[in-house]
Amino acid sequence: MADARKKREYTGDYPEKTLYLPGPTEVREDVIEAMAQPMFGHRMDRMTDLYTTIVEDTRAFLDTDQRVIVLTASGTEFWEATTLNLVEDRMLVPTSGAFSTRQANVAERLGKTVDRIEYEWGQAVKPEDVREALESSEDGYDAVGMVMNETSTGVRNPVEEIGDLLGDYPETYFVVDAISCLGGDYIDIDAHNVDCIFTSTQKAFAMPPGLAVCTVSDAAYERELEKDSASWYGGFQRCLDYYDRKGQTHSTPAIPLMLAYRKQMKHMLEEGHADRSRRHREMAEYTREWAREHFDLYPEAGYESQSVTCIANTRGIDVAETVETVSEEYDMVFSSGYGDLSEESFRIGHMGEHTVESIRRLTDAIEDVAGL
Ligand SMILES: Cc1ncc(COP(=O)(O)O)c(C=O)c1O
Repeated sequence: MADARKKREYTGDYPEKTLYLPGPTEVREDVIEAMAQPMFGHRMDRMTDLYTTIVEDTRAFLDTDQRVIVLTASGTEFWEATTLNLVEDRMLVPTSGAFSTRQANVAERLGKTVDRIEYEWGQAVKPEDVREALESSEDGYDAVGMVMNETSTGVRNPVEEIGDLLGDYPETYFVVDAISCLGGDYIDIDAHNVDCIFTSTQKAFAMPPGLAVCTVSDAAYERELEKDSASWYGGFQRCLDYYDRKGQTHSTPAIPLMLAYRKQMKHMLEEGHADRSRRHREMAEYTREWAREHFDLYPEAGYESQSVTCIANTRGIDVAETVETVSEEYDMVFSSGYGDLSEESFRIGHMGEHTVESIRRLTDAIEDVAGL
């Protein structure tokens, strides 16, 4: 096997590709340009202008009263941080694909006792199973952690219903990984007992990768204050206390990414959360119809994602070759199935700034290459 570490000089000379991945996704030109500015210091007044703007604009966009942290990190940081900040010992994690499994693994590596509710890949998490697990647990759980949009299978889990039932368990925090859908799939955060919901900027926010966003309920913040979290970098206290005192971040942030964030968040506010979600729904409906006509859908019916469609390869096309040829001939990049599903399925990311028209260009290209 080729040595992956062997230096292959980055030439900067690559054809432009349109991204239909489940993130990173397409970024507007003016958002990319916003990054190319002379640097300034992270303790200058200008930084306070920038950081308070992006935090408050995010709160307005998400329509939440919760606190908001925008951190230089990928979303993975908030698996660790929310676990360390909120879980003393026991956590319940329904697993139904690669990312929810990883969320459970992360918590275990941090020394927590994790009970899983295991589903077959492609199945959605069922609220009644979560209730049963909570009911039958002798000691209860410090938190339920789950993935809203299972990117590996294209399943959108019913987090709102699960949050509602958690209203009966006020000692249990609700942590939602919405990394591959937040911003493209409306959720009323404050109405469903969500304590923390987080995303990475390279997904439905349609920004470059490198920042992670997390909301924090008052209860979650107080709990962390009380317990004095083991997390420093992603500690709610460290992040929010610094914000309250200085309107800045506790350590040096990726300033160019925050400049891009500011620009894109203005676009997102202009469109509005509900309309952005509606546009994502239209793209998802178009993609599902196309998938049903030519293949089939991988997720359990009724739980299909609004931002990533996972298509069951019922015709047995060569997925790797189709992905490669569409990339070479059309300069469009979509995803094969995740892990073991690489040939059994493929995935189209219809998130961020895409439209039904841009998605149709991809499905036309796939039809052409796969001879559909
Ligand atoms: C559901 C989900 N959780 C977590 C992650 C990890 O996100 P990141 O790579 O931004 O840390 C991903 C990435 O695709 C994801 O889709």
